Amino acid sequence: MPEAKARIAVLISGEGRNLQALIDACADGRIKGEIVVVLSNRAEAGGIARAQRAGIAVEVLSHRDYASREDFDAAMVARLAARRPDIVVLAGFMRILTPLFIAAFAGRVLNIHPSLLPRHPGLRTHEAVLAHGDAAHGATVHFVTEQLDGGAAIIQGQFMVRPHDTAQMLAARVMSEIELKIYPQAVAWMARGELALNGDGVILRGRRLAGPVGLEALEEGFR
Ligand code: GAR
Repeated sequence: MPEAKARIAVLISGEGRNLQALIDACADGRIKGEIVVVLSNRAEAGGIARAQRAGIAVEVLSHRDYASREDFDAAMVARLAARRPDIVVLAGFMRILTPLFIAAFAGRVLNIHPSLLPRHPGLRTHEAVLAHGDAAHGATVHFVTEQLDGGAAIIQGQFMVRPHDTAQMLAARVMSEIELKIYPQAVAWMARGELALNGDGVILRGRRLAGPVGLEALEEGFR
């Protein structure tokens, strides 16, 4: 990664709490990066106002305006490429990406998913955790490949499910205790050039990971 700040594009579909954590970490210097664009596929996404408040350029591109997934992805690639991002961060972006998109930013696309992948890919993960009686739950940051929620995992944070936890309570805990910590950390590593995808494997500070690192890997500013 260059000496200059990393150029970061963030894709959202919803509330943008993860986006806000990234905005804050860029603003206070924990991430050596600049968010150069926020792209939303929904005009009503709450995250748009967060981006605007921070003075970040916003692109709204509705998938409904395109005949196919490929057409939509080609339009997104064109809008994003114009901003020359070093890192593309999916932060609650609820569309499956085609190989066309992934090839355009190969090895530079990160996603966060609210489960301990490979458990519970897809939607309604908190309900799935309760339905399966899982002892633990959490969230995972991973590189994006063509498989849904399937690329190499970088960092995963977890906690024990309590007997009285509801899906709503789990969602809140995953967000505040895990997501808002591990995503800024992963993007910070990426922006410093300390994190890379090598084939199927993750290289963090020159070491190939056998599996995702945990919350103990969080640096002081991210705990
Ligand atoms: C987050 O919980 C994120 O992990 C999830 O959407 C939420 C977005 O919230 N993403 C996925 O489920 C992707 N498969 P936010 O917009 O407030 O950050």
